[in-house]
Amino acid sequence: MALSTTLSWAIDLLAVLLLALGLKGLSKVRSARSANGLAALAMGLAVVGLLIQELPGPQAWLWIAAGTAIGGLAGLLTAQRVPMTAMPEVVALFNGCGGMASLLVALAVALFQSSEAGLVEIVSIVVSVIVGAITFSGSLVAMGKLQGWIATPGWTQGQVRHGVNIALALVALVAAIALPAGPAGPALPLLVVASTLLGIGVTLPIGGADMPVVISLLNSYSGVAAAAAGFVVGSPLLIVAGAMVGAAGLILTQVMCTAMNRSLLSVLFGGALGGGGTGHVGGGGDEAGYSRITSCSAEECALALEGAERVVFVPGYGLAVAQAQHTLRELAKLLEAQGTEVSYAIHPVAGRMPGHMNVLLAEADVPYEQLVEMDAINPDFPRTDVVIVLGANDVVNPDAKTDPSSPLYGMPVLEVDRSRQVFVVKRSLGAGYAGIRNGLFELPQTAMVFGDAKAVLQSLVTELRSAA
Ligand code: TAP
Repeated sequence: MALSTTLSWAIDLLAVLLLALGLKGLSKVRSARSANGLAALAMGLAVVGLLIQELPGPQAWLWIAAGTAIGGLAGLLTAQRVPMTAMPEVVALFNGCGGMASLLVALAVALFQSSEAGLVEIVSIVVSVIVGAITFSGSLVAMGKLQGWIATPGWTQGQVRHGVNIALALVALVAAIALPAGPAGPALPLLVVASTLLGIGVTLPIGGADMPVVISLLNSYSGVAAAAAGFVVGSPLLIVAGAMVGAAGLILTQVMCTAMNRSLLSVLFGGALGGGGTGHVGGGGDEAGYSRITSCSAEECALALEGAERVVFVPGYGLAVAQAQHTLRELAKLLEAQGTEVSYAIHPVAGRMPGHMNVLLAEADVPYEQLVEMDAINPDFPRTDVVIVLGANDVVNPDAKTDPSSPLYGMPVLEVDRSRQVFVVKRSLGAGYAGIRNGLFELPQTAMVFGDAKAVLQSLVTELRSAA
């Protein structure tokens, strides 16, 4: 075996190891930044491994180097310029690019080398084209929906769309079966067109608030497409990397579905349920549904905070809407200065995208060690003096544990109702994303502090400052 081939294999192996470490590190906020660096290094090594192989000529070398430079620069500029809030759109776009790359690789092999293709290669080409095209068009639609460029057309909410999608899937299947006859016929273009339209048809009906699940699923698809492309071009590195991304995306999809108490099937085939206050599931979340509500002023809440030894903040979607993370950090610093133990309870689906609260609080320089995941903080609520719920609703709803008729029943929640005193900061008694009433609001230890999260936090800061 030539020395360059051995070296290239060794580099590929190192790249796979680094990528695995990178994916593992991404599961923790503290290690996510360095893990991203490891994964980027793995990708860089993969390109080096390719360049030192015996390539068909200097032209190939030049194409690879130029492609890497242009793609790398585009990625760098995008990452630097995009605001944190637009991250889901960027992830959707990157998934789409991954799908497109796999599609193009498979098309190139199908068009220029298919005479040498065996059964495994043909199957790989078909999988790569179908999954790559679905990922590409689906991700672009997802990005357009998140940006507000694409609305959900009415016809996609009925049974018609299932008929259309099944018809497209059948056309793709027939084209896939006809493909081995030769790439010159209509099968290949038909396969690409039907799969691309299927990606649009599957993603278009899905509601805004379910988009994060769809994006992680598309992320998984982009991994599957890459693994299939790895079989097409005989690259073990691509196969392993694609399989890891595919599996990681699938696990994330499952975690999010469980945390939202939704099945993947209902997300994919249920239409635009939910949607950040647009089409709520369930009912009974209107203000008339409550009879035993206690409300209090920011001043009373500040008094309770002054006497507390342990305080837990529960951030939710409303905190993000109010952009109150910096004011919250200011309040936490004042409490810490008076010797209070402060932590933040993070529910996996608080907010509207995975890691929403982590990103929001990291932006305000909240120390990572103060962010405590749901399973770790739940046993600590009984020894917590004051819990301040900030623009969160569904993720603290105790009915999810006790009321089998609740749409949230079975969803794991932050058990703030077990703490000594709870203040819920929100503008009204209005419902959250799930559109249902919240039993927490009526508990004897709960007081509502009505107002915009930022304004209330600002008042609390003023109160604590004047008391100091
Ligand atoms: P929600 O249950 O949606 O409740 C948010 C609350 O914030 C609302 O009740 C609203 O009440 C309040 N609010 C809005 N603007 C506010 C402001 N300016 N100041 C103060 N409060 C404000 O949020 P959550 O507890 O974070 O739960 C997340 C929900 O979204 C879950 O049902 C989850 O399944 C769903 N979801 C999550 C994700 C991911 S991946 N995180 C994805 C899709 C869906 P008022 O109007 O009365 O102020």
